[in-house]
Amino acid sequence: MDDEDLRELLGDAAHGYFAGGAGDEITLRDNMASWSRLALHPRVLVDVSRRDSSVELLGRRRPHPFVVAPMAYQRHAHADGELGTAGAAADTDAVYVLSSQTTTSPADVAAAVPDVDRWFQLYVFKDRQISRDLVTAARETGYEALVVTVDFPIGGWRERDRRSGFTVEHPVALNPGGRALTTAELFALHDPTVTWDDIGQLADEAGIPLLLKGILRADDAERAVDAGAAGIVVSNHGGRQLDTTLSGVDALVPVVDAVQGRLDVLVDGGIRRGWDAAKALALGADAVMVGRAVLAGLARGGRTGAADVLTQLVAELDTSLALLGCPNARDLDRSFVTPAPWP
Ligand SMILES: Cc1cc2nc3c(=O)[nH]c(=O)nc-3n(C[C@H](O)[C@H](O)[C@H](O)COP(=O)(O)O)c2cc1C
Repeated sequence: MDDEDLRELLGDAAHGYFAGGAGDEITLRDNMASWSRLALHPRVLVDVSRRDSSVELLGRRRPHPFVVAPMAYQRHAHADGELGTAGAAADTDAVYVLSSQTTTSPADVAAAVPDVDRWFQLYVFKDRQISRDLVTAARETGYEALVVTVDFPIGGWRERDRRSGFTVEHPVALNPGGRALTTAELFALHDPTVTWDDIGQLADEAGIPLLLKGILRADDAERAVDAGAAGIVVSNHGGRQLDTTLSGVDALVPVVDAVQGRLDVLVDGGIRRGWDAAKALALGADAVMVGRAVLAGLARGGRTGAADVLTQLVAELDTSLALLGCPNARDLDRSFVTPAPWP
C-alpha cells in the first residue's frame, strides 16, 4: 500500500506506519515478490461450470479461504476503523481477526457487527492482567478463537516510525483515555519473557481454540502441535519485525509437511490477488490472511472500500479455479504450482 494516493490520504506518519516494514524493507518487498516466483500450471478440458472456493477451517466449512489479518490502530486509517473492516468481513463472509492493539473495543465491534465470524488476536503484555482481561472480554462477546501472535517479543526496527514519531491516539486496552503514545512506547508494553510454557497454559485457559501467528519453522510448528494449538499462521508479520526473514510462502511447505494435518495452517504476507491464495492452497495451506490490501481498501473507502477488496479477491480466486481446471479449491495440490521461469 505504498501508493502515492494513500500517502496523501493518510499523511506521512500514519502512511509510514501502515505501509512500512522493518529495516531495509527487504522482507516487506519480498512478501509480494515471493508469490510471483511461483508460476501456475493449469489443466485443461475440465468441466468448470460449477466452482467451489470453500475450505474447512477450525472444523467449519467457510465459503472461501480469506481471513482479515489482525491490524493495529485502524481508526488512524479511516474513521470507520475496526468497525469498517469487521463490517467488510461480514459483508463478504470472511473471518475477521481483531487486533489486541485495537482502537475499538472487542465488545463494541461485536455489538456493531454481531454477524461477523470473529477471532481475537492476543499479544501477551508485561501486565498480564491486560491480556487476561482482553481474552475474557473477547470470549464473552462471541470471538470464536484466540490468535496468539508469537513473533513480537519486542518491536521490529521500523525506521519510518523512528523518523516520523508516529503516535497512536486510541489504543483502547493499553491507554484508556490517556495521551497519544509513540509506537516505541507501545512496543515496550510487550512481554519478551513469553515461552512455550505460557502457550500451553494459555491454551488450557482460553476456553476457545488457539492459533499461533508468526511461525516460520517446521520445528516450531511441531511444538505448536504439542502445545495443543488448533492452528498456526505462517507469517513474518507483514515484514514489520525482522528484516530478511523468509516470506510466508517460502516457509510454508516444510511447515505443512511437518504438521501433517494435525492442525490448520494459514499463511500470510504479500497476498494481493486471488491467484496468490490459489497458490497457498495448492501448497497445502488451509486458508490465508490478508492485511494491507484490506487496510488500503479501508483507507480509501471505509467499510465499502474494504469490502470491495475482499469481493475482488474472492472473484479472482473463483477465476483462478476455472482457469486452472480445478473447480474445487480443496482439490488444489502441488501439481498446480511450479517455480517461475522468469527472473
Ligand atoms: C499496519 C499493520 C498493523 C499490524 N498489526 C498487527 C497486530 O496488531 N497484530 C498482529 O498479530 N499482526 C499485525 N500485523 C500483521 C498482519 O496481521 C499480517 O501478518 C500482515 O499484515 C500480512 O501481510 P500483508 O499486509 O502483506 O497482507 C499488522 C500489519 C500491519 C500492516
